[in-house]
This record gives sequence, C-alpha cells and structure tokens, in this order.
Amino acid sequence: MTPFLRLENISKSFGAVRSLHEVSFDLGSNEILGLIGDNGAGKSTLIKILSGVFPPDSGAFSFDGKKVNSRYYSCAQARKFGIETVHQDRSLAEKQSLWRNVFAGRHITNSLGFIRIDLEKAETLKILYDIIELTADGLDPDLPVSVLSGGERQGLAIGRAMYFQSRLVILDEPTTALSLRETEKVLGFIQKIKDAGKSCIFISHNIAQVFAVADRFLIMDRGMVVADILKKDTSLIGLTDRLLSVCQKEIPHA
Ligand SMILES: Nc1ncnc2c1ncn2[C@@H]1O[C@H](COP(=O)(O)OP(=O)(O)O)[C@@H](O)[C@H]1O
Ligand SMILES: [Mg+2]
Repeated sequence: MTPFLRLENISKSFGAVRSLHEVSFDLGSNEILGLIGDNGAGKSTLIKILSGVFPPDSGAFSFDGKKVNSRYYSCAQARKFGIETVHQDRSLAEKQSLWRNVFAGRHITNSLGFIRIDLEKAETLKILYDIIELTADGLDPDLPVSVLSGGERQGLAIGRAMYFQSRLVILDEPTTALSLRETEKVLGFIQKIKDAGKSCIFISHNIAQVFAVADRFLIMDRGMVVADILKKDTSLIGLTDRLLSVCQKEIPHA
C-alpha cells in the first residue's frame, strides 16, 4: 500500500553543521507519530522541510506516492497538500484579530473576489466554540489573538488545521510553555485529530505526553533516525530507557 507520506534519504546541513543525515521513514494516514530526541537532534529541521520552510540538500519526499519537487515546494504548497504546521510560538500573529489569523492567505471570497468577512467571523466562532470547545462566553472574533491563553492559542492553531481539513497536522513542541490543564487540552486535540481520521507528527520533550497520544515513535539522534518503535511493542519505561541510552551515547565520558 502506498503510504500517505514517504521520506527518502533526506539530508540537510547548515554550513558545517549536519542537521539531518539520510532520514527515511513512512507515515500512514491516520497515524499519530511521536518524534523524540534530544535538543539539536534535527526534529525541527525535519518538520521545516516537510512544511515548506526550506528544501533539503538531498533526498526526496512524496505524498500519496507523488514525488514533491522540493525546489518549488513552499509553505503555501504544503497547505495545499493538506499539511498544517503549528510552531511553538510563531503560528499566530498576536496583534491580529482572531478571524484574520484563521483565514490569512485562505480567505472565503464571493463571486466578485471580495472577502466574506461576516462569514469568516462566524466560522472563526465555530472553530473556537465547536472545534476547540472554548468555554469563555461572548468571544468577539475581532479581538486580537493576545487575549487567548497559551493553550487556547495552540487550540486555535490546531482548530484552524482541523477546519481546513488538513490531512497532516505537525505540532512542534506545542506544550512546552503550557500549564498542566492546558497541556491536557492540547493532548485532547491530538486525540481529535486521530478520531477525525487525520495524521499527526507530535514533537515534545515530555516523553510521557508523547507516549500517551502517539501510535508510533521515532527517536532521532544527531540528525539520524535511530529507532522506529510501535506503541504496541513498548511501554513508557521501555521507551524512556531507549531514549536515555541514545542520549548517554552522546556523552562518552559522563
Ligand atoms: N537555520 C539554521 N542555521 C544554522 N544551524 C541550524 C539552523 N537550524 C538548525 N540548525 C542546527 O541544526 C541542528 C538541529 O537543530 P534542530 O532541528 O532545531 O533540532 P531539534 O529541533 O531536534 O532541537 C542543531 O545543531 C542546530 O543548531
Ligand atoms: Mg526543535
């Protein structure tokens, strides 16, 4: 069966720093993949390539068996393929209104090409109340994103991905700055992505969080994928031990 996403020998260097070295893996549709590894392992570099921020130096990737020409690939193109990336802090424009954040670059227009602002505002409220189930009353879509808490912002970014029917939602450390309760909410959103039949790549330092929601784990170390483990074949302790053994190899004299 053709995988939803296939990466083949993706490499990327920044000057003398080799960030990725021949990374290959497949991702199935409706699979939640936990991407783990120490700081500097190459996780963010990998997802930036997938989300069109920059191309790899070499290697290829394909969606539904169709090879992507990475030279012409961009963030806009990635969205057209149904890939939505939620970065830790930079996914939303803080000072801009809620509705503009949802529809920036993807406006709903009428037959004359004018933006249907009222409809966009109404759809924004639907995302806030129906998809991410905010409980605050009387939210105005004209308010700036800065009125939302950290967890609600991640929720809006994820809700936007769900609204646009993204097939793959990539979350790069979405819970790092969040309270426990907000973190629980974000983990709940990942479950919703799974229930909606979509795929997700979830990056986090918190292995217990990754373990709770992912179907499969990739461990990265110094630019390479060093382990690919199904949840059914491991336990939280087993996965933690595996990650620690990788990290310890990095400090031979410790
Ligand atoms: N734009 C860049 N310029 C130079 N080096 C970079 C750049 N982006 C990442 N790197 C380097 O690539 C390596 C992998 O970084 P990154 O992908 O951010 O790791 P992770 O997300 O796993 O912490 C690090 O050594 C980092 O310093
Ligand atoms: Mg990172």
